[in-house]
Amino acid sequence: MLSSKTVSDSSNNKKTNGFTIYKRLANYALAYRLFLFFAFFGLLINATTQPLFAAYLQPLLDGTFMDKDPETIRLAPFALLLIFLLRGVSGFISGYYLSLVGRNVVTKIRSQLFDRLLNLPLSYYDKNNSGQLITLLIFQVEQLAEAATKGLKVLIQDIATIIGLLTLMLYYSWQLTLVVLLSGPIIALIISYVSKRFRRFSRQIQDSVGEVTQISSEAIATPQEIRIFDGIEDEKRRFEAVNERNRRAFMKRVVTELLSMPTVHFIVAIALSIIIYIATHDGLIEHFTPGTFMAFMAAMMLLLDPVKRLTKVNAILQSGIAAGENIFSLLDASQEEDTGRQIINNTKGKIEFRDVKFRYVSALKDVIKGISFKVESGQKIALVGQSGSGKTTLVNMLPRFYNYYAGDILLDDIAITDIQLNNLRQQFAYVGQNITLFNASVRDNIAYGKMRHASEDEIQQASRAAHALEFIQALPEGFDTKVGENGTLLSGGQKQRIAIARAILADAPILILDEATSALDTQSEKMIQSALDQLLKGRTTFMIAHRLSTIESADIILMMEQGEIIEMGTHKELLDKGDAYAKLHRLQFEASSTNDNDK
Ligand SMILES: Nc1ncnc2c1ncn2[C@@H]1O[C@H](COP(=O)(O)OP(=O)(O)OP(=O)(O)O)[C@@H](O)[C@H]1O
Ligand SMILES: [Mg+2]
Repeated sequence: MLSSKTVSDSSNNKKTNGFTIYKRLANYALAYRLFLFFAFFGLLINATTQPLFAAYLQPLLDGTFMDKDPETIRLAPFALLLIFLLRGVSGFISGYYLSLVGRNVVTKIRSQLFDRLLNLPLSYYDKNNSGQLITLLIFQVEQLAEAATKGLKVLIQDIATIIGLLTLMLYYSWQLTLVVLLSGPIIALIISYVSKRFRRFSRQIQDSVGEVTQISSEAIATPQEIRIFDGIEDEKRRFEAVNERNRRAFMKRVVTELLSMPTVHFIVAIALSIIIYIATHDGLIEHFTPGTFMAFMAAMMLLLDPVKRLTKVNAILQSGIAAGENIFSLLDASQEEDTGRQIINNTKGKIEFRDVKFRYVSALKDVIKGISFKVESGQKIALVGQSGSGKTTLVNMLPRFYNYYAGDILLDDIAITDIQLNNLRQQFAYVGQNITLFNASVRDNIAYGKMRHASEDEIQQASRAAHALEFIQALPEGFDTKVGENGTLLSGGQKQRIAIARAILADAPILILDEATSALDTQSEKMIQSALDQLLKGRTTFMIAHRLSTIESADIILMMEQGEIIEMGTHKELLDKGDAYAKLHRLQFEASSTNDNDK
């Protein structure tokens, strides 16, 4: 999966940042000092219960079974209950408060990330894969928090437990403790080898799950293509390959798991045998009562788990660091630049391009190559030209979706870079080429954002003007109908009309319509056009259209080719000129008249 790849890639080369990342994370956690204090307290208490339990075995065995001391016999059951009560309560407190801090930090970072996403420059979305951005928000935030809480727990609780147990063991017999300490590293080595393999297989599993997800979601999203182009066999083969990979990765992990435990246990058994051998042979036997020997053995066994966790803590911390790097680098990504200070009220909608050049960050050459033109207030400008000639790019520069261009773009004789960004954007309404609806009701899609307080009447009027009222009222729940994920429940033309209604409702001085009626039949398009012509009187309008019949009434037609304006004028002027536009017009006219003849 994408996530695991980015994580593993960055964990190798940026280890130096680990400290900074945890410091930054600590700053979030420190907002909850009191909770952290409770958690620490719980962890430490919890850590003492293990040595306490081992130590308890000594009086239990010696006092009750050997010496038959009545006092000890009376207290022993209660002492055991006390130890486990302490363990339970402290475990709850530490677990609860650690999670409380962890969840609070996750929520906070997630909100900040989302906020940042909403304010990124558009070029950021061009550069970054949307899947990766989403995994960051959903998965990596969790990973960071889990690494931090788990890491903290291991570092505090397990280290304290280990110190406690070793102290106890030293107290009973320093010689035997030495043997334990010597065999410890060997066990730790095996455990760390096993957990490395484990990690590798886990990553393989994650990757293969990602592949399974990808292939199946593609198959679900494109049922038509698969059937028409006879892709069923191909899809099946692709799927079977990843499915098999997934099975193998799982089996490898299972085998590692099944082999690792007995191996570790066997090595522990070897160490134990050595200890028993030494303890019973070397004159040490007089030091031990049955109770102290059992307590020593218990302490040794209890060491195993915390040591095991401690060998894994680095991996946990590393995965947290990797996730943290990605998260903080998005949090630190620069916002949309807003150097503009001027506020304009009631713009006249006069626009000028002066030798504007533009190139996308990822592109090798300019998409807009030195374009100049002037639009007077209230004019209707049409952009025509081949696919890829730069029409969408040109209109997208007006609301400053992209900041880095050469030349000047002026609104009411003010450079748009000098106008405050929000204020600039308020002057526009926009129907984009790719219409995206939110998974909400029709009403909420029309009265979106700044129009959220529009009255029922205004919404209805806007819908009527967009020729959408009729079909909206025929929907199962009218304006309250949910449109589905990206408007799946609507036809292409219906989506466009909802987007047009939204733009009309916005009542902005300048309108951008990027193939806003392309999915409509000629008749509906004409009707919307005439309604728009009425509505748009006095508003500057940029229209992009492939069907020339819709733009005949434009005040200026800009004919674009490969980022340049090759012709400019009214419909009549361009026809009279008899060049590119006239040729295009003839083509379309002939096509439509043959169509008419066919009927
Ligand atoms: N986000 C982007 N990053 C890099 N290049 C892009 C991006 N968007 C568009 N381009 C490139 O810029 C050029 C102009 O694209 P643009 O979308 O402006 O064309 P268009 O005239 O609107 O075409 P169409 O009629 O097909 O909508 C194309 O060559 C396209 O490949
Ligand atoms: Mg376009």
